[in-house]
Amino acid sequence: MIAVAVLAAGKGTRMKSSLPKVLHELGSKSLLVRVLDTVDSLDPQKQLVIVGYGADRVRASLQHRPGIEFVEQREQLGTGHAVQQLLPALQGFDGNLLILNGDVPLLRSETLKLLVQIHHECQNDATILSAHLPHPQGYGRVFCDSHNQLREIVEDRDCNAAQKQNHRINAGVYCFRWSKLAAVLPRLSADNDQQEYYLTDAVTNLSQVMAVDVEDYQEILGINDRKQLATAANILQNRVKDEWMMAGVTLIDPDSISIEDTVVIQPDVVIEPQTHLRGQTTIGTGSCIGPGTLLENCTIGENVTVLYSVLRASQVADGSCIGPYTHFRGQVQVGSGCRVGNFVELKQTTLGDRTNVAHLSYLGNTTVGTQVNIGAGTITANYDGVHKHPTQIGDRTKTGSNTVLVAPLTLGQDVTVAAGSTVTEDVGDDALVIARSRQVVKPGWRLPNSDPPEAV
Ligand code: UD1
Ligand code: CA
Repeated sequence: MIAVAVLAAGKGTRMKSSLPKVLHELGSKSLLVRVLDTVDSLDPQKQLVIVGYGADRVRASLQHRPGIEFVEQREQLGTGHAVQQLLPALQGFDGNLLILNGDVPLLRSETLKLLVQIHHECQNDATILSAHLPHPQGYGRVFCDSHNQLREIVEDRDCNAAQKQNHRINAGVYCFRWSKLAAVLPRLSADNDQQEYYLTDAVTNLSQVMAVDVEDYQEILGINDRKQLATAANILQNRVKDEWMMAGVTLIDPDSISIEDTVVIQPDVVIEPQTHLRGQTTIGTGSCIGPGTLLENCTIGENVTVLYSVLRASQVADGSCIGPYTHFRGQVQVGSGCRVGNFVELKQTTLGDRTNVAHLSYLGNTTVGTQVNIGAGTITANYDGVHKHPTQIGDRTKTGSNTVLVAPLTLGQDVTVAAGSTVTEDVGDDALVIARSRQVVKPGWRLPNSDPPEAV
């Protein structure tokens, strides 16, 4: 039986921000959500989040996650004081409590599972996660005997010169037998450099405590300032990109590419330089994305190419070619085998299979059938200054260059629109529409008073 508590009450003074530290984002998720995601894999019986600074904002940020119990720490008097606030909520709880700082977003769930497993096997009062850091400044130092039995944890600012030489640090992740921790919690004192109640003192006061080293120390980096946030973002990116490369995705110039960890990519996809993949984006096998492309919440089929384009909240089916310089502003569905090309903007628009919008067009609130050819410079005039109006274009219809379609408008199937037309009325199936004034030619015409034509 395991309960989890995440410490998220601190302001995070070193972030120099009005936003509570745990709400700062790392790859589109807050630090706190990342910690809670890691914990999910343990399937805890109870999830407690200790809130204090900016409590309402922290609560609101977790509205979409049911089953979280919030415990308030009104004054932030230290990590030990934060955990003291759990005493009423966990009265009579007879299991293990995993406690995590809310600012360790890179932790892997395998590491947590290992910590809990060792805690069980060795029947410890507490098992703490530790690591050997090349630069341990700022972290509490862990002192153990030769059997990894903990003697004490000393905070960086309370360490003497000799203690500072110890590079083994406390990760801020602990598994406690709750009844044992509850017994020592009320006895904490704030007799230290910060005048705070330290959770680490409670650990030192228990008898059977073991430290477990994490293999990859990058996992336990705590985020205290913006520099560490940027470092963590880098580590996360490298992790995500390494995983996709190992899964069969080619990244050309990986340093110039960013991929959020919510993205899913099939094998044999090529991601070209300067490409950014965000949100709930998925990419099918054989597709080539980039260079110079941003995809956000997009579903891309197989064998699609997207070149120098920005696509948001849209879907592209198999074998279509998008770009260069295409902008999908959202709710765009492109069928299979389509070409959407150079300098084209689409919004709330559906294209049927094998339809082309190849050059210099804007289509908004438009439903286009299959095998349609939208001529260069075709524009839907969908906005009358107050409302947006729809346009429907039937299968196999062709619009000539520089066509304006004034919505609301329906063009049937097999319609041809003459170049330069401004179409304002619906057109039925199988028709040619010419909506422009006829060309007038006046031979020999000159401006009055201009010289007469030279005799030949
Ligand atoms: C803490 C540990 C240190 C460890 C480091 C790992 C203590 C005393 N020190 O130091 O040994 O090496 O984490 O990253 O525990 N918080 C509250 N209420 C408070 C104070 C803090 O909820 O009154 C929360 C913060 O929101 C944060 C977490 O506790 O999520 C850690 O606090 P922080 O001030 O960052 O502790 P460190 O100084 O980093
Ligand atoms: Ca910290």
